[in-house]
Amino acid sequence: MNAARPLAAIILAAGKGTRMKSDLHKVLHPIAGRPMLEHLLASVEEIGAEKVAVVVGSGREQVEPLVARHGGVVVVQEPQLGTAHAVQQAQAALAGFEGDILILYGDTPFVTAGTMRRMRERLGAQDAPAVVVVASRPDDPKQYGRILAAADGTIEKMVEHKDASAEERAVDLCNSGLMAVRAADLWPLLARVGKDNAAGEYYLPDIVMLAGEDGRRSAVIEVDAGEVEGINSRAELAAQEAAWQRKRRERAMAEGATLVAPETVWFSHDTETGRDVLVEPNVVFGPGVRVADRATIRAFSHIEGATIGAGAEIGPFARLRPGAEIGEKAKIGNFVEVKKARLGPGAKANHLSYLGDAEIGAGANIGAGTITCNYDGFLKYPTVIGEGAFIGSNSALVAPVTIGAGAIVGAGSVVTRDVSADALALARGEQRERPGWAARFRAAMSAKKKSLGK
Ligand code: UD1
Ligand code: MG
Repeated sequence: MNAARPLAAIILAAGKGTRMKSDLHKVLHPIAGRPMLEHLLASVEEIGAEKVAVVVGSGREQVEPLVARHGGVVVVQEPQLGTAHAVQQAQAALAGFEGDILILYGDTPFVTAGTMRRMRERLGAQDAPAVVVVASRPDDPKQYGRILAAADGTIEKMVEHKDASAEERAVDLCNSGLMAVRAADLWPLLARVGKDNAAGEYYLPDIVMLAGEDGRRSAVIEVDAGEVEGINSRAELAAQEAAWQRKRRERAMAEGATLVAPETVWFSHDTETGRDVLVEPNVVFGPGVRVADRATIRAFSHIEGATIGAGAEIGPFARLRPGAEIGEKAKIGNFVEVKKARLGPGAKANHLSYLGDAEIGAGANIGAGTITCNYDGFLKYPTVIGEGAFIGSNSALVAPVTIGAGAIVGAGSVVTRDVSADALALARGEQRERPGWAARFRAAMSAKKKSLGK
């Protein structure tokens, strides 16, 4: 029955966010490499909201591109006169919308799509509540508004901490701030909200009491306190990051990855790991990483925007940057940096290299200290290394350059011209030898030192 009713979401984000002490809008601070608002927008998308309005105060220009990418609109609340006033600002943007409206907070990003579904289901239940309020029982109820509810979950009263009596403050059922209301109920109720209260603000929870005056009941649904915990400071941001990472590590293990020291592995919102992947301690995954089955990521590796093939070995101390594509069973060893480069199956770069803007064929061996010189200070150029080629240690490959399949580049070469397949290229000073020179040198120098009395 819910599926038939259209859905919209209003996300409140006009608060000043003072405690973040930041020039970046509070809802853009990232968790797991993704702005907190985007986590919320993703869940809103998942449940099929057809309209989304985000209410902001200052910082509209910062928030707008992200909201637009997700098909929503930004509306401005200026000045900020309270949560009811904030919701009202979205009325014009949702003009003509008839259906269910979810009211969410931009700084409470981890309310799940499942909870959003429950909100709608409760709103659509037989007893037709006017408002559905999401509540929790946090260990410390702090300044939260309180909900006085009957045993059957219908709400008798909602009261802000500032306005509450000692008895009301003793109630542990707290308002998360999130609500579901039908459009047809919401706008007329909001128009009746006053500001005769301790804060002199238009309180959104007042719509519950106003509906009550009309003889309509409202209902509460309870969720885990962690799910609706707001983020107001850097410390709370870090706490939410930690909670997110804990869950994500559990998921990686449930999907068949071994994490030797799970608490030291950092995932991004979009990391994908396969079966029998082994991740050693202290590995950081930035955004855009896919790790195929049976790959091993050794300790202290930093990986972002990279695709790692089945059975590949990375690290320890490897750095994979965006556009790194590591083929099946290929190897990237310690202190190797790879950027926008593809290594074919079984290719190896085991030590101390920079490989950028490169295409490296299957089974090629890149010696220690090899550098692709891809940049002349203005533009970037490609390096192509054929299948089975062998690049001697400490070679500089000055791009654009192509090393043919099966070619060998002598150690210490500075390669500036293409090398044919199966050729040997030497591009370094030739070695000369003077027999006995070192012995003569030592004898002459020690005699000189003695004559000077040293
Ligand atoms: C609000 C609730 C309180 C609840 C608590 C949960 C009211 C009156 N109180 O209190 O019952 O326990 O949230 O966290 O609703 N915002 C605007 N414009 C405004 C004011 C707020 O957009 O004019 C936004 C904020 O950005 C934030 C949310 O609304 O996302 C809540 O605002 P906040 O000031 O934190 O409300 P609380 O006083 O904590
Ligand atoms: Mg708050």
